[in-house]
Amino acid sequence: MLSIGNVTVVSSLVLAPMAGISDLPYRLINRSFGCGLAFTEMISATALAYKSRNTLKMLSATDQDRPLGVQILGGDPEIIKRALDILAGYPFDIIDFNAACPVSKVVSGGKGAGLLREPVKLERLLKVIIDNTSLPVTVKIRSGWDEASINAVDIARRAQDAGVCGLFIHGRTKTQGYRGTVDYNIIGKVKESLKIPVIASGDALTPQLIKKLLAETGCDGAAVARGALGNPWIFRDAAEYLKSGALPCRPEISEITRTMKEHLDLIITFRGEKTGVMHFRKFFAWYAKGMNIKKLRAKAFAANTSDEMVRLIDELQAMPASELSR
Ligand SMILES: Cc1cc2nc3c(=O)[nH]c(=O)nc-3n(C[C@H](O)[C@H](O)[C@H](O)COP(=O)(O)O)c2cc1C
Repeated sequence: MLSIGNVTVVSSLVLAPMAGISDLPYRLINRSFGCGLAFTEMISATALAYKSRNTLKMLSATDQDRPLGVQILGGDPEIIKRALDILAGYPFDIIDFNAACPVSKVVSGGKGAGLLREPVKLERLLKVIIDNTSLPVTVKIRSGWDEASINAVDIARRAQDAGVCGLFIHGRTKTQGYRGTVDYNIIGKVKESLKIPVIASGDALTPQLIKKLLAETGCDGAAVARGALGNPWIFRDAAEYLKSGALPCRPEISEITRTMKEHLDLIITFRGEKTGVMHFRKFFAWYAKGMNIKKLRAKAFAANTSDEMVRLIDELQAMPASELSR
């Protein structure tokens, strides 16, 4: 069980935000396999303040998609206040602030992981957010800017002092991006230093790695990111593995293809057929990861209609088992 402010979640496994991926259909699919708490992808406070149509679409949620956190990215207190005014009209449960994004354009604008180099500014921004919302506020950080400036403990203490109700830490530096080893040690030090819940992120790719991440860091929860791509079963499998130690069985191909069709349906309802099918192409590849289906994958990347994509999913189901073994 995980409690963040007044939000209590039965599972300690959280769906981490991923830009371009964590939309409503993706969250619903992961929730159907036991993900308890999910986040939107990072939402630019500036784009929100200017009510960009694409950005407002990213705020879409349903009653089944709760509890839900919205993650905002920003560096200007006035813009952030305007963004919070807009968010007040939406049914979110948590506001998460991004101090972790390593993208050059973001950090050079003093946002995302750029804030790890400006702890006082980050603390001030967190206070602004806390003073301008009634929701619990969390923050997502990294271990530091680079190997020579690991400052997550200082940053995390400041965040707690500012009044955040929970902290997410990706155990890599900004410089590492998404590569290299995850520093369990620094995540554990952050956990030890705080009273608020700490959720660990980094290589939560399998039930075994999730167990290791929790065990080595002592954290209250684990955030699953790349491990859930085409693999929403990770929530069911990891919960079972944490409870009983039972090693997960690979889902049957019928369960995989059923889930693919459900996901495709949700995406088409959300985005319309043309954009939806294009968006689903990469999910087809993720669901079929490790399968020996080069030609089918290429066809999926060229599919334009729902019927075409469904036919390819049916073809996948009909493939000989030897081609499907991962
Ligand atoms: C494609 C992609 C997009 C991401 N977008 C976000 C984001 O919008 N906000 C955020 O806080 N983290 C983002 N992340 C970071 C993940 O939430 C997570 O912290 C990171 O991938 C480490 O977990 P993993 O090694 O288990 O994937 C993103 C990661 C990836 C791979």
